[in-house]
Amino acid sequence: MSKPLIVSTWSFGQRANRAAWPILSAGGSSLDAVEAAARDAEADPENHTVGLGGYPDASGRVSVDACIMVAPSRRGAVAGVRHHLHPISIARKVMEHTSHALIVGADADEFGSRYGLPTQDLLTPAAHEAWTRWKLSKDKPTGPIANIEESKTWPDEEATHDTIGVLAIDVRGDLAGACTTSGLAFKIPGRVGDSPIVGHGLYVDPVAGAAVCTGHGELVMGVCGSFLAVEQMRRGATPGEAAAAVIERIRACFDLRDDDQVGVIALGKDGRWGSASIKAGFRVAVKSGERDELADAGT
Ligand code: GLY
Repeated sequence: MSKPLIVSTWSFGQRANRAAWPILSAGGSSLDAVEAAARDAEADPENHTVGLGGYPDASGRVSVDACIMVAPSRRGAVAGVRHHLHPISIARKVMEHTSHALIVGADADEFGSRYGLPTQDLLTPAAHEAWTRWKLSKDKPTGPIANIEESKTWPDEEATHDTIGVLAIDVRGDLAGACTTSGLAFKIPGRVGDSPIVGHGLYVDPVAGAAVCTGHGELVMGVCGSFLAVEQMRRGATPGEAAAAVIERIRACFDLRDDDQVGVIALGKDGRWGSASIKAGFRVAVKSGERDELADAGT
């Protein structure tokens, strides 16, 4: 157990943790830290599942979703943002400057611009090339049914990596979480997954704990994954048990395909964390005063 501490999904979480660490180590807030970590991932063009460089939807246009949260009464989110580099910062503006929880689409972009947040073409040449390959490889007839099947497809090399989810606890013991994603690669335009939906991709309760989910959003959304994990901790489960309970519930509710993956991280108010995933390969980046490492999640 250690405070402060920051945990993030996937190996790219390590870089994000390091970007946020100066804030936490200097006694800054967990809220500022999770935003900084998310912004780091959003600005990384090599990360094809978040922000700049994210793989586009089936129409070839990138859209991004994000959520930030410190308590049920303090949370903000955006979905379907197409022109802003830092959807997590728009989500924070929603949290701090409105009474709303979620703003979507062109209006979310406009809201971000109202606060002077930077706009950018999010489609990089590499992501465009991946989309072109995907488009060319399709030999099925087009139509609603074909498109739904295609929207489940992840590019091979990204089969199990998506979304950065970040949880942090600061020296005062305050919890915060952030989640940001470009969503499922080549998704049906307009599709929104778990990440920006409070209680699905991210949930933070200042007393019971915090949880974040990554992976196939539709699976998480079927069980209110992060809310389920936090409620398990409220009833006495350890973070590891709470994360495992989410995976068990998904297994009970869905006929899983071989490539289905969900990873969950849960963080308790005492700074202990745990994780679980449907299958091997999900890794958690952990940083504290003593540790800076990648850990394998329990399956
Ligand atoms: N977990 C991210 C998504 O499904 O959009």
